[in-house]
Amino acid sequence: MLKGKIVLISGASSGIGAITAKRLAERGAVPVLTGRNAEKLRAAAEAIAGPCGYYPMDVTRMEDVSRTVEAAIDSYGRIDILLNNAGFGLFEPFADASIESFVTMMDTNYMGTVRLTKAVLPYMLKQGGGHIVNVASMAGKLATPKSTAYSASKHAVLGFTNALRMELKDSGITVTSVNPGPIRTPFFDQADPNGTYVKNVNWLMMEPEYVAGAIVRAMERRAEEVNLPRVAAAGMRLYQLLPRTADRLLRGMFNRK
Ligand code: NAI
Repeated sequence: MLKGKIVLISGASSGIGAITAKRLAERGAVPVLTGRNAEKLRAAAEAIAGPCGYYPMDVTRMEDVSRTVEAAIDSYGRIDILLNNAGFGLFEPFADASIESFVTMMDTNYMGTVRLTKAVLPYMLKQGGGHIVNVASMAGKLATPKSTAYSASKHAVLGFTNALRMELKDSGITVTSVNPGPIRTPFFDQADPNGTYVKNVNWLMMEPEYVAGAIVRAMERRAEEVNLPRVAAAGMRLYQLLPRTADRLLRGMFNRK
């Protein structure tokens, strides 16, 4: 079902982007990796068995994004699936956080998703179909302490994703959000440099291979939303039904950064 599909991936030089690209290639899809660092990107592409492409691209630069999408269309003729995955976090109390970190997190996590979607969507509309998969986060549904900037940026990704899904309902384009809890990737080198959060949520931590598998399955099934792990999915549901009760119950669990 994914055989021959052209899948454009942002932030693909490490973590779940890089592993999802590998898994997609194993299913016969053609991953097109993008990321800021050309060297890392080349190494990630070289680790893939089968046809794939790579283009350096920074999601905070619209001219980069437009150029890359045009180059991919020139090479492959279409983009079947877009995986908006580039993102980063910085966990710190709001009182200590700089305005700059709010601006850059929003510009990457949220506006990066908007820019790339804006550039790809016209081609999907012309094709009469496609699949846009946005990696948001559990933090997009369930705000936690020391993540004001990150949670807000991922809430924005989710709001954008849910609105776009409704708009594109009859277009043949599926819009998916992926909302994972903590995953063991280089994400935490920047988000949690002293390792406190990683240590405290170790019991909840997922391996990137597991999450990449879930993303590939969502592409195969065209699922509209993926929440994982299961315990966090239950927490998110509880939060939506009974936000104040969930705050009380989950505060201890997630106030561990
Ligand atoms: P990662 O740090 O290995 O991957 C993120 C990638 O995005 C990196 O390759 C990074 O260089 C790239 N990136 C950052 N800024 C960029 C920019 N301006 N332009 C292009 N690429 C850029 O970490 P991971 O975990 O694989 O992260 C992937 C996505 O998953 C991110 O959106 C992250 O917020 C999200 N996520 C991660 C979780 C975790 O616990 N690791 C949990 C939930 C969501």
